[in-house]
Amino acid sequence: MTKFVVTGATGALGSRIFKNLIRLVPASDIIMSLYNPSGATEDIKSSGVEVRRGDFGNPSTLDSAFAGTDKLLIVSYPSIAHELRVKNHIAAIDAAKRVRVKHIYYTSLAFASDSVATVMQAHIDTEAYLKQSGLTYTIIREGIYSESWPLYFGYFDPSEGKDEVLIPYSDGKIAWVCRDDLGEGTAKILAASGYENTTVLLSGDKPITLLEFAQIASRILNRDIKLRVVSEDEYFKNNLGKQSEELLRAWATTYKALARGELEKVDPLLKNLLGRELRPVEVTLKEMLDAQVGDGGKEATARYAK
Ligand SMILES: NC(=O)c1ccc[n+]([C@@H]2O[C@H](COP(=O)([O-])OP(=O)(O)OC[C@H]3O[C@@H](n4cnc5c(N)ncnc54)[C@H](OP(=O)(O)O)[C@@H]3O)[C@@H](O)[C@H]2O)c1
Repeated sequence: MTKFVVTGATGALGSRIFKNLIRLVPASDIIMSLYNPSGATEDIKSSGVEVRRGDFGNPSTLDSAFAGTDKLLIVSYPSIAHELRVKNHIAAIDAAKRVRVKHIYYTSLAFASDSVATVMQAHIDTEAYLKQSGLTYTIIREGIYSESWPLYFGYFDPSEGKDEVLIPYSDGKIAWVCRDDLGEGTAKILAASGYENTTVLLSGDKPITLLEFAQIASRILNRDIKLRVVSEDEYFKNNLGKQSEELLRAWATTYKALARGELEKVDPLLKNLLGRELRPVEVTLKEMLDAQVGDGGKEATARYAK
């Protein structure tokens, strides 16, 4: 019998991992380590899994949250504050070591190992720390959420009526993948044996450029959405007010990574794990536009702004 402990299960990715894990292993073998146990979702409450308090910022809670378990899934802490983010991940890895967890799974991101994107740097540092921890590890590089397109697509908000999307540095391909598919694939890796001391990539299978994305959005909206590569300053000017300058400057480095092809890598693993076709980004985009939840990246960036 393998005991699992999962962090971040109230979040966008973690809730989907939980939903799938509970179908694969008995509820009695799963523990939810929640930052805020009183915020446990109905899905968690009704599942019968044990809930414990585990706050990355309070390491002693992590010891008790992870105690007596074999496999720990650390869902990365959502923030652009590099030091805080790495500190939180290290706290979880150290606690796992203290209470003798056997195998740590860490949700990293799909950028390259030598990425120039600011958002990847905390993952690179965490991956390095995990590899030298002496614990068995699996690093799961999660592909770019299809649902996060407004962030990459110049904070596009269809309700503003603007037909021009400005990005800095460069266009490039992204192998988008939806959160439902990532949640299912991640749960399957967690429940399986193997994947020891490896780094895997869960990606979409049809990378497209932002220009191609603009063409798809144009068809869905019946508008002519144009993409223009501009200077960093023009990008900032266009988006100031939507985000802090710190966040915009950090985010602009993503487009330098796009120029290097960092997000176009495709790995068949996710499709093989799911045993079906992945949901195309067009489908998620249409759903979001139809439901008018293209919010100019507000929801997605609010998480990073911590
Ligand atoms: N692959 C992509 O394209 C992509 C896109 C966006 C973000 N991400 C990253 O992927 C990771 C997961 O994203 P997500 O969308 O699931 O984020 P999310 O919805 O914001 O969920 C984050 C989770 O972390 C928990 N948490 C917050 N503070 C904590 C603390 N001090 N100790 C322990 N847990 C804490 C939250 O609990 P509460 O609900 O109690 O606050 C929540 O369950 C994040 O690192 C995020 O930055 C990836």
